Parts: sequence; structure tokens; C-alpha cells
Amino acid sequence: MKKVLFLNLVAVLVITTTCVTSCKKNETATVAPTLYDSLGGTTMVADPRGGMIEKGRLGIRTVVDSTVFVIAGDTAINSYFTVLLAEVGANNLSGFQALEKSLTDFFCVATGAKKFSYSGKSMVAAHDPAQNSRMNGKADNGDFDAFVNDLVKGAQQVGLPLDLIQRVGRVVETTRTQVVQK
Ligand code: HEM
Repeated sequence: MKKVLFLNLVAVLVITTTCVTSCKKNETATVAPTLYDSLGGTTMVADPRGGMIEKGRLGIRTVVDSTVFVIAGDTAINSYFTVLLAEVGANNLSGFQALEKSLTDFFCVATGAKKFSYSGKSMVAAHDPAQNSRMNGKADNGDFDAFVNDLVKGAQQVGLPLDLIQRVGRVVETTRTQVVQK
């Protein structure tokens, strides 16, 4: 009887110790930084356009803007953007502003931001001319590669470090099968 009691006591001690150890582990566990964190994260900084903005979002918006300008000058793929370019040529920036917001939201969410959401079309719908009249034709793998090259150039132009460009590149790659429809 004494032996059984002793064994029970040992079992209780072991279970208690395990729980305390694992609880402690949970409390002190650090969450791995997301790509969004590495791009600047949630630290609030002054937005050059006024007000305050998360540093990560400002970084992403800066890369998006730079990339859209590279794409606009890239004859390999700029013919897909005829609607947008005609608007901009006529001093109408509404489509450009909407695209800038959509792309910025999309990349914020895709890199792990918590405070933003993407409310644009799905990647399939956005790149299907039948569902998006602003997409002038279906893109193939070569177009996708050209888009990624332009994104790399756009990111380099605003000084994003190479390791971060590569990580953004990996996120972009996950959309290839949805964007490429030819
Ligand atoms: C590489 C990955 C790509 C991503 C993550 C991406 C993302 C997006 C997003 C978020 C939109 C906005 C959708 C909306 O607001 O509803 C969009 C629109 C568009 N995308 Fe892409 N895209 C990619 C590749 C491409 C490629 C390869 C092409 C063509 C070569 C392309 C051409 C377009 C066009 C023409 C639009 C409409 C622009 C406008 O509003 O005038 N995209 N894309």
C-alpha cells in the first residue's frame, strides 16, 4: 500500500513538473518575425504623404510605386496595362491609385501584416480578361518572369536589400499558377 502511494506521489510530481516546465516554455516562447516585420513591421513612422503609417506598409507601397513605373516602361509587358496607361496619360490617376492600394494591401497581407486586408479581385479573376476588363490579354510564364524582373528592379531602385527582395520573390512565386492563364 505504501509503495502504491509513493508511486502515485512520484507520478503527480512528474506531471506537475512537466506542466510547469511546458507552461514556462509557452510564456517565454518568441514568435518568429514575419517578412512584414523584416520589411519594417508595425512601427509607426511619418508618412511622406501626411499622417502616420506602419513602416512595413510604407516600405511595401514604396516598392509597389517604383515597380509600377518600371512596368509602365517595359515594352515586354506594358501592353497588358493599356487601360491604366491611357488613364495616366490623360492625367486621370484614379485607376493608378486603386491599383497601388490593391497591390499594397495584397503584399501587406501576403507578408504577414495583421491590420490590413485585401479586398480586390482574386488572383485568377484579376488576371482573366473576361473578369477584369483592365487586363489586356492573358499572361504566360514569360510575362510573369518579366513582371518579377520588373519587381526586382523596382525594389532595387528604392534600396531594398537583396535578401528581402528574394523573400518577396518567393511570395510572388506562389501566385504564378493563378496569374498565368495562357
Ligand atoms: C507576379 C505576381 C502578380 C501579382 C501578385 C499581381 C497582383 C495584382 C493585383 C493585386 C491586382 C489588382 C486587382 C484588383 O484590384 O482587383 C492586379 C491587377 C493587374 N495585374 Fe497583376 N499581379 C501579378 C502579375 C501580373 C502579370 C504577370 C501581369 C501581366 C503581365 C499582370 C497584369 C495586371 C493588370 C493589367 C492588372 C489590372 C491593372 C489595372 O487596374 O489597370 N499582373 N495584379
